[in-house]
Amino acid sequence: SGNVNDGMRLILIGPPGAGKGTQAPKIKDKYCVCHLATGDMLRAQVAAKTDLGRQAKKIMDEGKLVSDEIMVGMIQNELDNNKECQNGFILDGFPRTVPQAAKLDSMLSQKRSPLAHAIELQIPDSLLVARITGRLVHPASGRSYHKLFNPPAKSMTDDVTGEPLIQRSDDNEGVLKKRLGTYHEQTGPVVDYYREKGIWKGIDASKEPGEVWKSLLGVFEGGSAAKAGQGGLLG
Ligand code: AP5
Repeated sequence: SGNVNDGMRLILIGPPGAGKGTQAPKIKDKYCVCHLATGDMLRAQVAAKTDLGRQAKKIMDEGKLVSDEIMVGMIQNELDNNKECQNGFILDGFPRTVPQAAKLDSMLSQKRSPLAHAIELQIPDSLLVARITGRLVHPASGRSYHKLFNPPAKSMTDDVTGEPLIQRSDDNEGVLKKRLGTYHEQTGPVVDYYREKGIWKGIDASKEPGEVWKSLLGVFEGGSAAKAGQGGLLG
């Protein structure tokens, strides 16, 4: 259709703290696509005290995954009804299992709009403890900060709204260990799934946020940076 945003349909895969929620809003702003963060959607249910929210909170605080059926339903609903997604989308935190990935594929093939990129933010587990335990979030917008690496202008306060920042209940070392175990076990195979489909790109997410952003732009603009990323940086 000649739209400049044609094909901007992508997923960000990476362990807790890799930077999905830090980079996705920048992609959204640059390309005018929607940002669907399944963790944020679940936390909105928790805040609204729905039945789903009550069940989800327990699962999230154990570092486990909410059922595929519920998560696929949430994403399908957004892709079908959210007007912001008409230009394309960034999925952050979904798919997290191979069945979720397969369902997403069949949803998109019905719309004749396949994924353009499955981008893996690659980073060793050892760097994630500091990122997660220092994270501060603004629940209403999903904006995240870091006590040391990206502090808000005023302590514990969102730069945009002036509202208070909080720490997530699953952002402690104990739950992080479980989340990492779940990630390697259940989401690792999702990376292989997209490698086999030929749309996987790996980028080094251990660098500072500006460098990570440059690597992402390299992938979108299809230049040499994207090619350099094809081999993956960690293995
Ligand atoms: P979710 O909210 O998706 O959590 P997650 O995947 O663990 O990811 P995080 O939000 O922790 O990390 P991030 O990569 O966004 O990091 P950020 O950019 O903030 O899911 C939560 C739970 O919901 C799951 O455990 C599960 O139970 C459930 N769930 C969600 N989706 C599901 C699904 N599809 N199926 C089933 N269950 C599902 O960065 C972290 C910190 O580091 C920040 O403080 C940031 O400022 C800082 N930082 C970022 N980048 C850098 C950098 N380059 N250098 C230094 N610091 C940095």
